[in-house]
Amino acid sequence: MLTKAPRGTKDITPKDAYKWNYVENKFREVCALFGYEEIRTPIFEHTELFQRGVGETTDVVQKEMYTFEDKGNRSITLKPEGTAGAVRAFIENKMYADTQPTKLFYQTPCFRYERPQAGRQRQFHQFGIETLGSDKPSIDAEVIALAVQFFNEVGLNNLETCINSVGCPTCREKYNNILKDYLDAKSDVLCETCNERKEKNPMRVIDCKNPVCKENLADIPYMIDHLCDDCKDHFAKVQEYLTEMGINFKVDKTIVRGLDYYKKTAFEIISNDIGAQSTVCGGGRYDGLVEQLGGPKGVSGIGFALGVERLLLTLENNNIEIENPKATDIFIATIGENAQTKSFKILKDLRENHISADKDHLDRSLKAQFKYSDKLNAKYTIVIGDDELANDEVKLKDMSTSEQTSIKLSEIVKELKNRL
Ligand code: HAM
Repeated sequence: MLTKAPRGTKDITPKDAYKWNYVENKFREVCALFGYEEIRTPIFEHTELFQRGVGETTDVVQKEMYTFEDKGNRSITLKPEGTAGAVRAFIENKMYADTQPTKLFYQTPCFRYERPQAGRQRQFHQFGIETLGSDKPSIDAEVIALAVQFFNEVGLNNLETCINSVGCPTCREKYNNILKDYLDAKSDVLCETCNERKEKNPMRVIDCKNPVCKENLADIPYMIDHLCDDCKDHFAKVQEYLTEMGINFKVDKTIVRGLDYYKKTAFEIISNDIGAQSTVCGGGRYDGLVEQLGGPKGVSGIGFALGVERLLLTLENNNIEIENPKATDIFIATIGENAQTKSFKILKDLRENHISADKDHLDRSLKAQFKYSDKLNAKYTIVIGDDELANDEVKLKDMSTSEQTSIKLSEIVKELKNRL
């Protein structure tokens, strides 16, 4: 127990941490290209924020939240997603008073009590963006374009971008009535979850994986066929802009998303290489959420989040290798006590000049020091003993070519700066 991390969590060891660094930096880079700035919100929030923000009828709020009472008897929840916290911060920091839209990005751990499987953990990580303050379809297209560009830049050109419109309160209400009538007539043949969803959030029935329900719901009406004119125009514009950018997408009317806040555009980016948990990225518009969380009226929002674990799994399954930048510029092998002592000053000079340098700390033999240097992937190695110190001359060995050059030990920083 003591030596095992909690179920659904994973260590990120140096063997993989460089891959995380790479994708984190890439995401930052792409966000900057689109004018997004970073926001960092707390890991935990008041439980009510998610109840109100994510929605009482969602699986996330009903079953999956890590909720506890703190010592001051407040109900606290570890964030199950990034949107609610970002919107809360947008309101609290009065970002709506600045020139709009507000473009935010984040990289955050999230927590959901789910059954762990490949690509599904209890602590997982999201990269996300949120744009607040524009209800125009051009922002929808830009948000999708950012996600697509990020995936392309890490080498994933084979993901499927699926978009849908889940309507606005006006057309959704009408559609829900049609849907409810349809579902009422089928309630005998639907599973318990579908019957529950039918009452609280009928559109979620479309997400049911039960094969019997699927068969019985083959002719279910879809939101997209019942959009009001405003939603229809909005969705048509989003598609026009995506087409203009040459972004491949398909309209998938089965996308309903699992969180309650979505209105109009909803989208998912799918990987066909990682098994059942194939949605790498999900997002959409959430007009109304700012007001619902206590902010000003009429501030629209749209964003997405992508799962970093699923992203890395997709990269791995596509054989896309991320180069490990780890490399020691120079390894200093020593012979004898005097050289051991002198090596500290040399190391200090090198490191202060931003040349990565290392030495042995286990009193290894010279042969073992060279082996260790290989393991560290050092670009150069020098050996210092009494002679080298006395003559101020060392042989600089290029580890990739095995070529050796005599240089002055006192000029090692200058020599390496020229070569690296
Ligand atoms: P979501 O679809 O719940 O949306 O999650 C976004 C992504 O997080 C998923 O597509 C998936 O890659 C990853 N993910 C979710 N749960 C897990 C898990 N248990 N283990 C591993 N990865 C997971 C949201 O969270 C919305 N806040 C997205 C959004 C932002 N919509 C608008 N703005």
